[in-house]
Amino acid sequence: MLVLCAQTVFAQKFEELVKTPPMGWNSWNQFGCRITEQLVREMADAMVSSGMKDAGYEYIVIDDCWQRSRDSAGNIVADPKTFPSGIKSLADYVHSKGLKFGIYSDGGTMTCAGRPGSSGYEFQDARTYASWGVDYLKYDWCHSEGQSAKASYSLMRDALFKAKRPIVFSMCEWGSNEPWLWAKDVAHLWRTTGDISDCWSCESNWGSSGVMQILDQQVKLRGYSGPGHWNDPDMLEVGNDGLTQVEARAHFGLWCMLNAPLMAGNDLRSMSKEIAQILMNEEVIAINQDELGRQALKWMDYGDLEIWLKPLANGDFALGILNRSDQKISFNKSLQFTTYDTDFKPKSYTYKIDGDFAIRDLWNHKQLGTTKENFKAEIESHDFILLRLSKK
Ligand code: GLA
Repeated sequence: MLVLCAQTVFAQKFEELVKTPPMGWNSWNQFGCRITEQLVREMADAMVSSGMKDAGYEYIVIDDCWQRSRDSAGNIVADPKTFPSGIKSLADYVHSKGLKFGIYSDGGTMTCAGRPGSSGYEFQDARTYASWGVDYLKYDWCHSEGQSAKASYSLMRDALFKAKRPIVFSMCEWGSNEPWLWAKDVAHLWRTTGDISDCWSCESNWGSSGVMQILDQQVKLRGYSGPGHWNDPDMLEVGNDGLTQVEARAHFGLWCMLNAPLMAGNDLRSMSKEIAQILMNEEVIAINQDELGRQALKWMDYGDLEIWLKPLANGDFALGILNRSDQKISFNKSLQFTTYDTDFKPKSYTYKIDGDFAIRDLWNHKQLGTTKENFKAEIESHDFILLRLSKK
């Protein structure tokens, strides 16, 4: 009986968090292990001064390499050279800006960069994070040989719950154990793939890949995403060097359609006006943050041309047209259709667009006529036109 009670108390995650996908910044994509407390402070400052905070970004997350060792009592110790004031003081600083604070660990014995992992220290680390004021934990999966992912991630979920501070739990086992099938009650989000690379289309031999390869891996997973439990196709490369301006906005628009967590991965202190406009486009962010939380459907696939559709809470639709080819495409088609959505078993939905929808261009904030006429556009190579269709 006692055992049953303990399971009832601990076997849950904090339920009221991330009803829409989390938004924030993470150090890894741009800085890797080159992180210091000064850098993180400056990023929190820039999150506010750039307007990102007002646009909805709230978590400042330090990825790998903040930790150095454990003390004689087993407590995790921050690197004294790069984080001399300690993590609590950094979390306080981030909170003083009206932002939330996130940290990184690993369910194995070491992190991917070889720092101490949390295996065997789950409850102690969760208590430490809670005492520091941590709001978000990204939990990686390196050096976990012989461990069960489900058991290890559930253990950390229980440890966080027992520590009593609501902490968003972000799983990062790269989709290796099909977390979408079992992690809804374990974590708030789970990575679905290996690491994103800063490129439009590429694959490395160690499992990282570009925006297009990651996109293709999301198509069949849409039925598993929803409020409080999101598929995570990895952090944004918008504003880093590998994508053109057009590709960066397509990447952002697609991630919004996928209900992806919007974790900026660039240097917020020095982003260009164009990149700021992409990351802070409020009409595009609204698609990602729509409370219905239904991940977009790849509705039409013509090879180089794809049409993506995301139903929204108020009955509108977001519709995106992706040009994957190296040439400009002249698009001239009717957007009227009826389609059946059977990916959210056991439910199914019917979506119908007739001639009575107004078309709005979300990148340029312009009305573009109605669905009565064919929709015509010149679509640049690698661009993603993003429209909102609203019943008149
Ligand atoms: C893994 C994760 C990345 C990042 C690095 C840090 O590769 O997938 O997102 O956290 O580890 O070492």
